[in-house]
Amino acid sequence: MDNDIILEFRNVTKKFPGVVALNDISFKIHRGEIHGICGENGAGKSTLMKILSGVYPHGTYEGSVIFNGEELKLGESAIQEAGNKGIAIVYQELTLVPTMSVGENVYLGREPLEHGSINWNRLYANTREILEKYGLDVQPHVIVKSLGVGKMQMVEIAKALSEKAQVLILDEPTSALSEAEIDKLMDILGILKSNGITCIYITHKLDELFRITDKITVMRDGKEITTKPTSELTQEKLVGYMVGREMKERFPKGNRKPTDIIFKVENLQAVDPNEASHKVLNGVNFDVRKGEILGIAGLMGAGRTELVMTLFGEYSKIVGGKILLNNKEIKPTNARQAIDAGLSLVPEDRKGMGLVLIQSILKNISLPNLDQFSGFFRIDKDAELKASMLQSKSLTIKAPSLEAAVETLSGGNQQKVVISKWLLSKPKVLIMDDPTRGIDVGAKYEIYKLMNDLAENGVAIIMISSDLEEVLGMSDRVMVMCSGHSTTTLPVAEATVERVMALATGMSLS
Ligand SMILES: Nc1ncnc2c1ncn2[C@@H]1O[C@H](COP(=O)(O)OP(=O)(O)OP(=O)(O)O)[C@@H](O)[C@H]1O
Ligand SMILES: [Mg+2]
Repeated sequence: MDNDIILEFRNVTKKFPGVVALNDISFKIHRGEIHGICGENGAGKSTLMKILSGVYPHGTYEGSVIFNGEELKLGESAIQEAGNKGIAIVYQELTLVPTMSVGENVYLGREPLEHGSINWNRLYANTREILEKYGLDVQPHVIVKSLGVGKMQMVEIAKALSEKAQVLILDEPTSALSEAEIDKLMDILGILKSNGITCIYITHKLDELFRITDKITVMRDGKEITTKPTSELTQEKLVGYMVGREMKERFPKGNRKPTDIIFKVENLQAVDPNEASHKVLNGVNFDVRKGEILGIAGLMGAGRTELVMTLFGEYSKIVGGKILLNNKEIKPTNARQAIDAGLSLVPEDRKGMGLVLIQSILKNISLPNLDQFSGFFRIDKDAELKASMLQSKSLTIKAPSLEAAVETLSGGNQQKVVISKWLLSKPKVLIMDDPTRGIDVGAKYEIYKLMNDLAENGVAIIMISSDLEEVLGMSDRVMVMCSGHSTTTLPVAEATVERVMALATGMSLS
């Protein structure tokens, strides 16, 4: 047995009805390395990891997985078995129990016992030990729901490590993290590596791959395209392998011609409905023109998502200021009213707000848009189908058919369904909250093209994004938020990364 190799995939094939998710995958992972996996949405990355972590046990796929020189044959309670063997996974979507403490979550279902009851002192002491050893900056007694996503993820990692993981799988761990939290995670991975833990790191963010991985495997359409040392790759080469063609530019050139102001927010103030002394918005001012893309930048916690929720009458309570659509004040108290007034939202949280997971793609796309397809007494099925087809084609949603349930799609393809649904609703003002999070480079480009199309047809677009390059690449103007208020709106030509970061961190511009 080659002791350097901790894991090997041999001719692994996994089929779902109508889809070959993995097609004869073979590659090796060396002990102690950080091994990146990337590829377009639906390439099969998460499915491969689910085989490794026991979600799909032995016998539900073809081929074999060799772990420490032996074939991995996970049976009945496969997930637990994988954990016991030392294979742990941090999922794309976090899985913690929000009402429990950090320690309780870390040892959930595996609580240390003494005379038949839980030994809490030991549980918290063990938790603290793990947290400290790996530089995870969280307190064991804190209740999970009071933590931000970055810290929640640290708890997930601690949970994985508490099972003495030899291999730690991170599936798109940074999609909801701020820059500072990402830096922290990169440090943690460094510590894991120096402790001899092998990491498999899945991401769509190329800069992260180049920052921390030793090797990268590129997947496309269920196949392994290449596995190479990171030092032999460049961003261009990698993108080429991912999309199977050369991509010259990240942002398509639009021909946008902004006209009149259609949407305006004046000195908007809002508080937490449960705690009136807590201001979530503290003076937000901006306007958007027809045919314009306004980017909203800011750090995590700057109030961007709170702004969106407030505009849609959800969550916070407005205590001052105005929202004007076509010069008329609107006061939406729920999302329906905002939508009826002409606002649409591509939400940040696709599971919570965007989709009915058990329904088909077709239903999800067409449901909010049924009035477009209704005749006098019936829904025009053909028109419904045609419009949805067009949409899913242009965004290249990868699925066996439009009848497929949304829950069977890969994470990125679910996001495309959300976007399709709102693009079809022909809004006047389209608000997109981190629209391309978790979406592969090729599909991002398609979304940007659609945004340009919409804007060229007079739709005003407000795009919130934590990807500053995207904000700068796609916006006409950039509004920067900091601590619940708007700072300055800059024409994109004057918005450099430095200036935006300075505004976002509360420095005044010189
Ligand atoms: N339970 C399932 N039933 C049917 N099809 C599935 C199921 N799970 C995954 N698939 C399909 O298998 C393919 C691979 O999906 P997978 O989630 O592995 O992609 P991915 O590379 O992780 O994509 P993303 O970057 O979007 O997360 C997709 O076409 C997906 O629709
Ligand atoms: Mg995935």
